Amino acid sequence: MVVLGIESSCDETGVALVTYQGMETPRLLAHALHSQADMHRDYGGVVPELASRDHIRRLLPLLQQVLAQAQVALDRVDAIAFTRGPGLAGALLVGAACANALGAALQRPVIGVHHLEGHLMSPFLSNDPPHFPFVALLVSGGHTQLMRVDGVGRYELLGESVDDAAGEAFDKSAKVLGLGYPGGPALSALASGGRADAFALPRPLLHSGNLDFSFAGLKTAVWTQHRKLGACPTRQQLADLAASTQAAIVDVLVHKSLRALHDAGLQRLVVAGGVGANALLRSRLDAAAAQRRMRVHYPEPALCTDNGAMIALAAAMRLQRGLATPPQDYAFDVAPRWALETVSAAAPAP
Ligand code: KG4
Ligand code: ZN
Repeated sequence: MVVLGIESSCDETGVALVTYQGMETPRLLAHALHSQADMHRDYGGVVPELASRDHIRRLLPLLQQVLAQAQVALDRVDAIAFTRGPGLAGALLVGAACANALGAALQRPVIGVHHLEGHLMSPFLSNDPPHFPFVALLVSGGHTQLMRVDGVGRYELLGESVDDAAGEAFDKSAKVLGLGYPGGPALSALASGGRADAFALPRPLLHSGNLDFSFAGLKTAVWTQHRKLGACPTRQQLADLAASTQAAIVDVLVHKSLRALHDAGLQRLVVAGGVGANALLRSRLDAAAAQRRMRVHYPEPALCTDNGAMIALAAAMRLQRGLATPPQDYAFDVAPRWALETVSAAAPAP
C-alpha cells in the first residue's frame, strides 16, 4: 500500500509518500517540504492568510516532486491523508481540499489525520522505532503535553501547559532578545555561547506535584532581565540570557517527563514536535536515560518539525489496524481546535 500524506496546518507545506505491507512498520518513500519561515519573518510570526495562499501555490509542485523522487505514478497511490486539525482553518482547508479532490479523481480513500498524532508516531520512521506503550512528550509551537500512548488512537492526557506552549516560550523569549522568527532554533544557537546559570529564571510548576506546565511567566521574566541590561546589551549578555532561558524551559520539560514515566510505570519516552529538535533537551534526556532504565526515542531530525511524512505514517498505521473510516462521498471538514485525547481508537467522524 502506498499512502500520500499532506500537511498544511501552519507555516510548512509538506507532502510525502509512505509504503507498507501487512503489519510491517511503514517505510518512507519520499518527502518534500516548503517552509514559509522567510515569508512570515518580516511580520514576526505567522500571518494566516498569507500561509493559506502559499500552501495553494506549493502543494501541487511538491506533490509532483515526491512522485518523481519516489518514481511512483499518481495512480499507484492507494490512500490519501491530510491534516484535519488542529491548526489554522484556512491553511488546513487547502490541504483538505487538495486531498479530497485527488481522492475523488482517483477514487481512493481520504483520511483526515490529527496533527499531533502525526508528531507522536513520527519516531516510527526512525532507525530506532519505539514499542507501545510509551509516554510521549509533545512539544510544538502550539502544544506542550505529556501523553500516555498504549497504541494507535489510545491516548491518555497526563498533563499539559495551562498557558503558553514550550515552543511559544522559545519564540516569545527570542523576540524579546531581538532574534528572528521562528525563535526556537535562533535562541538555541545564541545560547550555545552563553552561561546557563547567568540569570535566575523561574521554573514554573516544577514542583507542582502534577504534570502540568506553565510558561507564560517565563517570557515576562526574560523581558524584565533584558530590560535590566539597558539599551545596549553585549552579545555575551544576550547569549547568557538565551542560555538561561533555554535551561529554564528544558529543566521543566525533563523533570516532568521523568516524573510522567515514573508515575505511569513506563520506561519508554517518545519526544515529538518542533522543540524536540532542541539539542539541550535531547542531551539532558539522553543523560537521564543513561542513568536509569529508560529509553528515549526521537524522530529523525528532518521529521521533528511539521512534515507530510508523519501524516502519511499516522494514516498508514490507522489503515493497518482497521482504524480509519474514510467517508465515501469526499465530504470534508477541518478541525482547527481538536484535542488529541478525543481521537478515539475508531477514526473520528468528520
Ligand atoms: O511542531 P512544529 O514544527 O510546529 C507546530 O506544530 O507548532 O513546532 C514549531 C516550534 C516553534 O515554536 C519553534 O521555535 C520550535 O518548534 N523549535 C525549536 C527548535 N526547533 C524548532 N525550539 C527549540 N529548539 C529548537 N532547535
Ligand atoms: Zn507540529
